[in-house]
Amino acid sequence: MFLWLLVPWTLLLSTALGAVTKIGTSCTVTPLTDGSDDTPQILSAFKSCGNSGSISFLDGIYHINQIMDITLTNSTVSLRGTWIWSTDIQYWLSHSISVVYAKRSTAWRIGGRDFEIRGYGVVFDGNGQKWYDQNRNQGNQNGRPISLTLWNARNAVVDGITWRQVQFWHTFVAHSQNITMTNLDMNATSNSQYKTVNTDGIDTWNSKDIVLSNWTVSCGDDCISIKANSSNVHVSNVVCHESGGMCIGSIGKDAGVAEYVDDVVFDNITLIHSSNAAWIKTYPSGPGHVKNITFKNIKFTDVNQPIYISPCIYSYSNCDASRLQISDVRWENISGTARYNVGAGIHCSGNAPCQNLTFENIDIKQKSGAAVEYLCSNIANQKTSGWRVLGLVLRISLSSSIIISLGGS
Ligand SMILES: *[C@@H]1O[C@H](CO)[C@@H](O)[C@H](O)[C@H]1NC(C)=O
Ligand SMILES: *[C@@H]1O[C@H](CO)[C@@H](O)[C@H](O)[C@H]1NC(C)=O
Ligand SMILES: *[C@@H]1O[C@H](CO)[C@@H](O)[C@H](O)[C@H]1NC(C)=O
Ligand SMILES: *[C@@H]1O[C@H](CO)[C@@H](O)[C@H](O)[C@H]1NC(C)=O
Ligand SMILES: *[C@@H]1O[C@H](CO)[C@@H](O)[C@H](O)[C@H]1NC(C)=O
Ligand SMILES: *[C@@H]1O[C@H](CO)[C@@H](O)[C@H](O)[C@H]1NC(C)=O
Ligand SMILES: *[C@@H]1O[C@H](CO)[C@@H](O)[C@H](O)[C@H]1NC(C)=O
Ligand SMILES: *[C@@H]1O[C@H](CO)[C@@H](O)[C@H](O)[C@H]1NC(C)=O
Ligand SMILES: *[C@@H]1O[C@H](CO)[C@@H](O)[C@H](O)[C@H]1NC(C)=O
Repeated sequence: MFLWLLVPWTLLLSTALGAVTKIGTSCTVTPLTDGSDDTPQILSAFKSCGNSGSISFLDGIYHINQIMDITLTNSTVSLRGTWIWSTDIQYWLSHSISVVYAKRSTAWRIGGRDFEIRGYGVVFDGNGQKWYDQNRNQGNQNGRPISLTLWNARNAVVDGITWRQVQFWHTFVAHSQNITMTNLDMNATSNSQYKTVNTDGIDTWNSKDIVLSNWTVSCGDDCISIKANSSNVHVSNVVCHESGGMCIGSIGKDAGVAEYVDDVVFDNITLIHSSNAAWIKTYPSGPGHVKNITFKNIKFTDVNQPIYISPCIYSYSNCDASRLQISDVRWENISGTARYNVGAGIHCSGNAPCQNLTFENIDIKQKSGAAVEYLCSNIANQKTSGWRVLGLVLRISLSSSIIISLGGS
């Protein structure tokens, strides 16, 4: 009804690109209908309205054939439709944007401050099956792109996005502060003989003040992974299927660099068919610390090693050498079934015994209902605990790891 007012302000940015309409500081994008690359018009909309404006993507299919590197300031983005990333593997391997961490890279990097990206039924389709098949169960492939990276972002919200068949990690948050990511739905499931490999839900790095809530993830790798130099992270109401569970790390790979993870809470998390539920993993080489971590209200079904600390992840050697101090870790209300006969493997380093671990209300059984074993080493200053056996102060070397059976408490 206000069309007569709006028309004079309407600017068709480019007829060749077809479909970005700008009214004041609001851009509206309509997907191209001939199957060609939507990236140029998407980038043009972010450029026109991404600073003190808003961008609204209308329903339909968007083809993403190129990398996107954008900055948003004081703006709101509304996403609709299905966004499909192209399968030109060679293009992505050579063009993905570096995220520095472990030589990894991303298809879409977003930086800036005071912005919201909200999905309204939007689906990101990474066309990942191509990636899973060409990767053939190998490890991290340089250039295989993370779907969405927040890089140098502050005061940002990402909400309501559904991912299917992501290319690599779903999301990465780096050099960022005050980030809220809510109501996300991720599922990467290979339909071939090859596994998805490294389709993590999220990894955080050099970032602080992060809230992650209301996620459903099925990913075949770490669901939520809090990596080096992350602090004040609150994770709640997350359900993960086929995952590595809730992870701190891996950190401490570089002998010369101190890394830390501080102040993390995982609350109300459900893990179904996972390798781990509550996991802290460090390498034996680097210094640093992991401090003030809470895992609470964690429920799980069929998990290999529900509670797990390893100071020598992936090498399983030199474990007592780690000087990375793990302290003030709490597990409260942890219940579910373990796939094998181990409920917890808490292996701390002889050189830096874990300090101040607390266990309250731990109820882990084998799927058959039989009791599980708890394996522990190098734990100092054990706090009071509802978990009877760990009321002991354990100072023993890994070589003499003890195995304690609990009569199903
Ligand atoms: C933020 O953007 C709105 C328009 O969307 C504008 O009115 C407001 O002045 C901007 N605020 C700042 C701090 O730039
Ligand atoms: C954090 O970001 C939110 C927007 O997501 C904003 O409302 C809030 O003021 C920010 N907090 C701080 C401390 O800047
Ligand atoms: C994920 O997708 C696979 C394949 O489509 C499906 O079998 C599975 O049920 C999905 N997982 C969840 C948790 O919905
Ligand atoms: C999480 O989901 C619940 C139920 O669907 C909803 O009430 C709540 O507002 C959501 N929380 C956030 C932070 O979006
Ligand atoms: C726990 O998370 C689930 C979703 O995983 C949600 O339905 C439920 O309301 C949450 N419980 C609390 C107490 O927040
Ligand atoms: C972590 O922070 C420390 C300084 O506190 C820095 O020396 C180190 O390089 C950082 N690690 C990474 C991986 O950025
Ligand atoms: C532990 O971390 C949580 C989450 O950031 C925080 O709320 C709490 O104050 C921290 N506790 C201490 C003793 O630092
Ligand atoms: C553990 O569960 C009990 C019973 O549901 C609840 O009262 C208590 O608040 C929970 N503890 C934590 C730390 O959430
Ligand atoms: C363990 O807790 C005690 C008592 O609360 C405290 O004095 C000590 O500094 C803590 N140790 C570490 C490594 O945090």
